[in-house]
Amino acid sequence: MRRHGVLALSAIVLPAAFVAVLGYVSLRQWAASAELLFREQARDVAAMAAEKVEMMLRHAEDGFLDQLRAALASPGPPGPAFDALLARAPLVGRLYVLDHRGAAVYPAGSGADASVVARLRAEGSRGLWERGGRRDLLLGDDVWVVTLVKGRDGAPLLVGCSRDREALRREVFETTLGALESPTMIAILDHQDRPVYSRGPLDGAQRLLAVPFREGLPGWRVAVYQPPGASPRAAVRRQVALFTTAFGVLLLAIVAGIAATWRLMGRETEMARLKSDFVANVSHDLKTPLSVIRMFGETLEMGRVPDAARRQEYYRVITRESERLSRLIDNVLDFSRIESGRRRYDIVPTAVEPMVRATLEAFTYPLEQQRFKVEVTVAPDLPPVPMDTDAVGQALANLVDNAIKYSADDRALAIDARVIDGRLALAVTDRGLGVPKAEQARIFEKFYRAGRSDTQGRRGSGLGLALVRHVVEAHGGAVTVESGPGAGSRFTLWLPLAAGPGASHA
Ligand SMILES: Nc1ncnc2c1ncn2[C@@H]1O[C@H](COP(=O)(O)OP(=O)(O)OP(=O)(O)O)[C@@H](O)[C@H]1O
Ligand SMILES: [Mg+2]
Repeated sequence: MRRHGVLALSAIVLPAAFVAVLGYVSLRQWAASAELLFREQARDVAAMAAEKVEMMLRHAEDGFLDQLRAALASPGPPGPAFDALLARAPLVGRLYVLDHRGAAVYPAGSGADASVVARLRAEGSRGLWERGGRRDLLLGDDVWVVTLVKGRDGAPLLVGCSRDREALRREVFETTLGALESPTMIAILDHQDRPVYSRGPLDGAQRLLAVPFREGLPGWRVAVYQPPGASPRAAVRRQVALFTTAFGVLLLAIVAGIAATWRLMGRETEMARLKSDFVANVSHDLKTPLSVIRMFGETLEMGRVPDAARRQEYYRVITRESERLSRLIDNVLDFSRIESGRRRYDIVPTAVEPMVRATLEAFTYPLEQQRFKVEVTVAPDLPPVPMDTDAVGQALANLVDNAIKYSADDRALAIDARVIDGRLALAVTDRGLGVPKAEQARIFEKFYRAGRSDTQGRRGSGLGLALVRHVVEAHGGAVTVESGPGAGSRFTLWLPLAAGPGASHA
């Protein structure tokens, strides 16, 4: 039994554990690759965004420089023409034009910031005059583009223009990134990581990665964010939790199922054992009195007993043994009737004392022979109680039979009947072996016999108390036991004084 259980359990638990481990490992792998993929995608989006911004900046710049050249080519002083140009190009914050000697052509006079002029001049001396081209610089918080254009006299001029932060945000970032298809949270950070523009609120979001611009915005970066709780790791964690819970519930259900099956199997095996014990016990109980009756009958028949008193004794043995036989057969027959639901009760108000005396009379011989001290107490004012006399008599007989059968050295039997709490309490008390607490509930089950019953040579079918319980319950009553090993037992039948709803008259 136990080995089967362990086997069945391991047959479920081992594969289940295997599946759990496999599931967990594959989830982890999936998490890792999902994260990788997600990062790669984010990097692509950021790079693409950076490229778009750069392209747009370049385009705007080229347009501005063309207009600048046109302004230089037109006659008249360039100053007002540059002013007009600046007013039309919001992306350009400030404009400086230096001649070959490093003097500011624009803005003229006191309008020029000496520190800016110095920086531009320094940039020019770093090969820009000779090699030309375009450079991006960071001056303070501003990003500048420095390049050369041809002046009116053919000599090159150095042009520096700063990018206007606000205009960048409004005209470049908003238009390029705002129109982006992907739902990614994206932001542009300046050289000090301050967000200049962001798509969606950034608070609580976690920065996944940042890609620098290749040209146009030195030190600035495009960053990709994750809204809180949206990272693939969090998603996987949720999956793992879900998987684990579902798996746990499944495992629990399986284990519960196994436990239930196991219990059921145990019950069935136990029932089968009890039934086979029952058959053995009943056969024995039938055979013993029969062989006694036969032996004494034959002895008497052969006339070999001259002593009249001895003969009388033999007759009594035969009567007693037949009574035992009828009781056993009654029990078995009644039991089968009860089991098939065919047992009927005829419940009518009955005087208690005569019923008790009649029942005890059948036990006169064994009680006398075993020198039992018998005490019967019936309350004098007892009213007639509704009952099926035969059935209650049989129940009482079973209790008396047990009291005799499970007696010890101190042989005493007390029957008392009185009204307690509006019910008839009919109690049979002995000073016999007693029943351990753990078995007290089970002795009322059919076929059940307490552990020592067999080893102590007291045979029985295990039906007696099952029958008792059935009878009292059919009367709307109950049976209780107070007992302890070696302390004797007191079985009490509780019967309602008025026929209750539990009684069946049919
Ligand atoms: N008065 C008692 N003292 C001690 N043990 C008892 C007593 N009455 C019952 N038992 C225990 O309860 C068990 C069940 O009793 P029950 O009367 O149902 O069956 P039984 O006496 O074994 O068989 P039978 O069907 O012949 O009466 C007994 O086997 C016995 O162990
Ligand atoms: Mg019994």
